[in-house]
Amino acid sequence: MKNEAPQQHDGSDGAGGYSSFRIRNSGPLEGTVRIQGAKNSVLKLMAATLLAEGTFRIDNVPDITDVYTMGELLSSMGLTVTHGAGTVDIVCPAECSTVAPYEIVGRIRASIVVLGPLLARFGEATVALPGGDNFGSRPIDMHLRGLEAMGAEFETEHGDVIGRVDNLVGADILLDFPSVGATENLMMAAVRAKGITVIDNVAREPEISDLAEMLNKMGAKISGAGTSTLTIEGVDSLHAVDHTVVSDRLESATYMAALASAHGEIRLDGARAHHMEMLLAKLRSMGMTITPDDEGITAVVPGRLTSVDVSTLPYPGIATDYKPLIVAMLTLSEGVGIVTENLYAGRFAYVSELTRMGASVRIDGHHAVVKGSEQLSGARVKAHDIRAGACLMVAALSAEGETIISDAHHIDRGYTNFVGKLQGIGVDIERVEVDRRR
Ligand code: EPU
Repeated sequence: MKNEAPQQHDGSDGAGGYSSFRIRNSGPLEGTVRIQGAKNSVLKLMAATLLAEGTFRIDNVPDITDVYTMGELLSSMGLTVTHGAGTVDIVCPAECSTVAPYEIVGRIRASIVVLGPLLARFGEATVALPGGDNFGSRPIDMHLRGLEAMGAEFETEHGDVIGRVDNLVGADILLDFPSVGATENLMMAAVRAKGITVIDNVAREPEISDLAEMLNKMGAKISGAGTSTLTIEGVDSLHAVDHTVVSDRLESATYMAALASAHGEIRLDGARAHHMEMLLAKLRSMGMTITPDDEGITAVVPGRLTSVDVSTLPYPGIATDYKPLIVAMLTLSEGVGIVTENLYAGRFAYVSELTRMGASVRIDGHHAVVKGSEQLSGARVKAHDIRAGACLMVAALSAEGETIISDAHHIDRGYTNFVGKLQGIGVDIERVEVDRRR
């Protein structure tokens, strides 16, 4: 299939418009979920194909809207993008457009990562300033400062960032904060820069290591992925490769949070426990039994869990993206838990939706104080972003009655076959079209 809108497995057209999920009290859960390739890796791997002429194949690709949007972006630049079952084939020609237009970038913030590859290969890039999720402004100053250190010059015009450079040159760069996107952009620029680039205080996420692994297969010379310092020796040319996307730790966490709410025993095939150690330690201290092996994770929750305190931190700390799931689990656990957000200013929009379901959550600055209840009550609620949507699903599983989560398109951005996978472990869920005027 050439780059077209996703076909959802639950029969909808996937456009999302007015789709909602209807969820009824479910559990105990039982069965196996196959974990998808990571959204936050595959989008960057797709951008990396801009770095070399040739035919790439990416495997273990999630069937999510963001992948199709990234495909649309690359197609608009002249690449040929063909989606298959769990694969995407990308042919990058000798010449490409170097413009990433707002109509597409506005739908997917991750598209900012085309900036580094475009400057590295073509010496120019015009990229609309990104949009993304509904959780506050997310600047790109660190991306630009790092690229400037390598010789690029930028101006901003009509909402676009326009970058130019004759030849990128290696530089020593210290990031103010281990930004995932800045690390990826700078790494993809440095692989074709003249000389050696050392980037300190970089992000250490498994998705960064996945990108470094693909770039090294393409002929790059990157060392230090997974540590705080990347050393990159620039090379003159790179070549196309095949690559398999790393497992999605956020999808694994989502099904574990569902289990915390509805209880039971599930198997997560393909989950990687060593990519989520801190979260697993917290879940164990709440009372979940977690048994990892080489092929995945088995998790058991016999009854109500106990509350804990959690702070979000850059990897290997507890990811900010887990936080809505953790808050949802705490609304049902025994006791009071305090969740502290250290990455994004305003990422608590889903709390007012949980409150509509009867949850007791008090926001105090960047802390959420969550008092567990025996049971929430089903309600009409809205998904403000991908993880907020998943958090409401978790709360809905053990709520009394029925919950309708609107704005399903946010969830479709990040979860393959959300309805089918949940139904497969015993969740009473369906996609419905709801008239929001009522
Ligand atoms: N930041 C700056 N300046 C920059 C770059 C970042 O101030 O130049 C700030 C941001 O405003 C934010 C923090 O640094 O407060 C973290 O931003 P980071 O660059 O690390 O995040 P990102 O690359 O934009 C990725 C994930 C997010 C995830 C964050 C943090 C993708 C596509 N997105 O975003 O995932 O929340 O890292 O881990 O990889 C999601 O999957 O739902 C999602 C939003």
